[in-house]
Amino acid sequence: MHSETLTTAEVANLAGVHRDTLLRWLREKVIPEPRRDHRGWRVFSRTEALAVSRFAETGSWEQPPLVDEFDHDIAKLHGIDWNFEGAKTRYLTHGLHPYPAKFIPQIPNALIQELSSVGETVADIFCGSGTTLLEALQLKRNAIGIDANPLACLVSRAKTTQLSDAELHEVSEHLERCKGMLSNLQANTGDLFFSGRPFQSEGWRPDAKVTDFWFLPEAVEELAEILLQIRKVESCKARNLCLSAFSAIIVSVSKQDSDTRYVRREKQTLVGTTFSKYISQLSSALGAVTELGDIIEDRFKCSVVQSDILEAPETDQFDLVVSSPPYPNAYSYHLYHRLRLLWLGFDDQEFKRTEIGSHRKYSSKGKNRATHETFANEFSKILKWLKPRLAQGRYACLVVGDSTLDGQRIDNAQLISDVALPLGLVDVDRIEREIAPTRKAFNPKIGKIKTEKILILKNGGRG
Ligand SMILES: C[S@@+](CC[C@H](N)C(=O)[O-])C[C@H]1O[C@@H](n2cnc3c(N)ncnc32)[C@H](O)[C@@H]1O
Repeated sequence: MHSETLTTAEVANLAGVHRDTLLRWLREKVIPEPRRDHRGWRVFSRTEALAVSRFAETGSWEQPPLVDEFDHDIAKLHGIDWNFEGAKTRYLTHGLHPYPAKFIPQIPNALIQELSSVGETVADIFCGSGTTLLEALQLKRNAIGIDANPLACLVSRAKTTQLSDAELHEVSEHLERCKGMLSNLQANTGDLFFSGRPFQSEGWRPDAKVTDFWFLPEAVEELAEILLQIRKVESCKARNLCLSAFSAIIVSVSKQDSDTRYVRREKQTLVGTTFSKYISQLSSALGAVTELGDIIEDRFKCSVVQSDILEAPETDQFDLVVSSPPYPNAYSYHLYHRLRLLWLGFDDQEFKRTEIGSHRKYSSKGKNRATHETFANEFSKILKWLKPRLAQGRYACLVVGDSTLDGQRIDNAQLISDVALPLGLVDVDRIEREIAPTRKAFNPKIGKIKTEKILILKNGGRG
């Protein structure tokens, strides 16, 4: 991403204007000043040069900085096409588990490359499925992830953990056992069938109220059996990978409509479907994790902390934050993930209580109904915690969309920026990007939102 620099004359040439015209634009501050070299001459990065060229074409400077002092680091971000249309998003372990509203890896990748250096530490304070964490590791940075959702922490750990040869072997053996069970099930003979009666597992399963309502009996028995087999995997790292693959298939073998709709609809799940989906999911996870071992160096560490961010978790210092926070009325992870959480034996009620922004809190009829002020107060508390942990002069990049509350549009980037400033976290830029069509309609009421902003706060000034 780092590129060669251009002189004023070269930029003027590229933009198709006279050098004097370019100098006048700089003097009149209609375009920002670039950095100067040791001789005091202006040097433009390629991305800045392209921005000047676009200015020459359109007459307007795209997304100018919001503070007087134009930041060179930030200028570099303006040469990037943030829509990343057609980019591959499932490389390495990124495809291990679905996660509503996970960002495409290209976003953290670009921010990490431009705003941090090798060996530094990148934090994602709402890490979800660990997209930022994996990108940080593969770019040779250390990573810290925090999330209140226990499922997010499981997936983030599985996604960023390399397995030893012995651990990979243990997963392969477990896979072979599962394949054997599947062929028994499909042949309708063998150990898994008792005198032609449907297979029943001795494994644990969630309460019958949940399983009877949300699953067909075939799926319940197979899920319980898979879980029983996973429990026999001795290495904790290997088991986490298996649990992550197990969790990944749960919605597809349940009657839950989809990953982002918690309503029941009838679905067919034939004998063997659950085992076969699990085998296929774990096989590709195993391939991806094996590849991870070739890409990530041991010296770069990733730690994942399961905590409500409002409880001020203990962490090391970091040099950059890249995160997509929850925001009012947008998602309800405790609902989308309820069946997964219950099958994994996690406390869904605790997560429901702590989840920020959930639709449930913003649509309740009671006097405790959350408002945009609730969100502003929560963010003020989060940023107060964050500021002393983020190195001075460094950045927190927050990817947020707007919310609709009581029919009114709330600009969350502005709201966060307003609470950040008094704390000495300065809003230095906002980059607007289009959201991929598949990500627009979690909540039909806010389904029209088609863009989101990357808000960039700099830890400077007072505080
Ligand atoms: C938009 S998602 C992040 C997705 C992530 N960028 C990814 O690529 O997978 C927001 C996350 O905030 C988490 N969250 C919500 N309330 C929280 C809280 N109080 N403390 C910590 N995390 C919270 C949710 O569990 C969810 O994983």
